[in-house]
Amino acid sequence: MMATRSVQLVCLLICSLSIMKTASAKVNESPKQEKGKDHAYFVDKTIVQNAVSKGAVCLDGSPPAYHLDHGFGHGVRNWIILLSGGAWCRNITDCLNRSKTDLGSSKLMMPFIFLGIFSKSKSENPDFYNWNKVFVRYCDGGSFTGDIESVDLATNLHFRGARIFDAVIEDLLAKGLKDAKNAILSGGSANGYPAMLYCDHFHNLLPKAHRVKCLVDAGYFIRVKNPLLENVFESLFRDVVTLHGSTKVLPKSCTSRMKPELCFFPENIQQDIKTPFFTVMSAFDSYQVDNIVGSNIGDYIRARNCTESQNNAFKELRSEFLNALPVANDPKQRGAFIDSFNRHTQLELWWNKVNATPVNNLTTMKVFGDWYYDRKYSYVIDEHDLPLPVYLYINGTLKSRG
Ligand SMILES: *[C@@H]1O[C@H](CO)[C@@H](O)[C@H](O)[C@H]1NC(C)=O
Ligand SMILES: *[C@@H]1O[C@H](CO)[C@@H](O)[C@H](O)[C@H]1NC(C)=O
Ligand SMILES: *[C@@H]1O[C@H](CO)[C@@H](O)[C@H](O)[C@H]1NC(C)=O
Ligand SMILES: *[C@@H]1O[C@H](CO)[C@@H](O)[C@H](O)[C@H]1NC(C)=O
Ligand SMILES: *[C@@H]1O[C@H](CO)[C@@H](O)[C@H](O)[C@H]1NC(C)=O
Repeated sequence: MMATRSVQLVCLLICSLSIMKTASAKVNESPKQEKGKDHAYFVDKTIVQNAVSKGAVCLDGSPPAYHLDHGFGHGVRNWIILLSGGAWCRNITDCLNRSKTDLGSSKLMMPFIFLGIFSKSKSENPDFYNWNKVFVRYCDGGSFTGDIESVDLATNLHFRGARIFDAVIEDLLAKGLKDAKNAILSGGSANGYPAMLYCDHFHNLLPKAHRVKCLVDAGYFIRVKNPLLENVFESLFRDVVTLHGSTKVLPKSCTSRMKPELCFFPENIQQDIKTPFFTVMSAFDSYQVDNIVGSNIGDYIRARNCTESQNNAFKELRSEFLNALPVANDPKQRGAFIDSFNRHTQLELWWNKVNATPVNNLTTMKVFGDWYYDRKYSYVIDEHDLPLPVYLYINGTLKSRG
């Protein structure tokens, strides 16, 4: 039973994003790391039933859902909202398939595991352990941007991600979010983008709050220019924006200057965001590297046998990535933690002492916590210009390499 749950946990977080390899790894390959427990726990889903009357529904027409764990002690008026990742669906076939999974239907959503930045352990997660924690399920396939009224009778597919975002936030406001003192809107992978897109809107909904900031976890995908690299995200985003009818929610300040799909790139909307936001991402994020440099390249990185042309591609990717990031001259407004480890996302499985990947002896947890609480503003960039392999432990067991 427990074994099944662990597998479920790994699958929820990894397989569903279909970006990392699961464990074919040998457990005895754990070098320096000491075994540790995760302080993880399961939280039931809350179905947002009244969203249906607003037409705010998942791909299959079911109501949206989130998982909420209430804050305690000094954290009762602090809220962190995390929009879960899970790539995109870009055509009807994809979306129809997705509508039969928990990435497209709340009927199929199981209780969700809370860990990392959602851990309740004070020692593991000192800055956020007692906050109200909300994990918003991703079930629209279009980064919470879709808004198409009509429903195709043949497929019964709904493209309503933007309405889902509004309906979920409205529900949370009524549950206490409206009295928040501190708040964070965050999102991982495909949903790093909406954490930026809706950042100012979220801030405006919380006039009583002292501190509202946003956090993008491994969602800063870029539009590459060098022909050594593949510009895959541009056509992907064109398909997504078209299928989901996203254009109307994209910032006018961007769509007045360029094609809507280009406004799906964080680099083209970041300069207009007034609320402070923080970017956590590896320069060699495995999802970005697999798409832009070549799939299965993680095998070469781990075997440390990359070819010269692969290494040149990595250096070019890193340089284009650093150029696309917000400028570092005001780290109070734009903090960052950019490492060189070849993996994807950091707020959940990597947000603990065992899996932390320090840069210059600084961890994501410390740098982000200091930045959020206005203790110290940092813009950290790992100077390694080639990807570093990395090991992931779950509940004391080696689960994957990179
Ligand atoms: C981690 O292991 C402990 C026992 O060592 C177990 O009680 C706990 O449920 C496990 N957690 C997960 C998430 O599998
Ligand atoms: C839909 O997109 C997937 C990639 O996500 C692609 O493999 C497939 O061929 C596309 N199907 C159609 C009908 O365009
Ligand atoms: C449909 O989804 C399943 C996972 O639920 C996946 O394994 C399969 O490859 C998908 N099929 C297509 C055609 O995308
Ligand atoms: C590099 O390592 C990978 C993974 O072990 C292997 O598949 C590949 O053949 C190796 N390539 C070279 C050139 O040694
Ligand atoms: C790294 O940080 C830890 C704790 O923050 C500290 O104890 C240690 O001395 C630091 N090491 C170096 C080399 O700075």
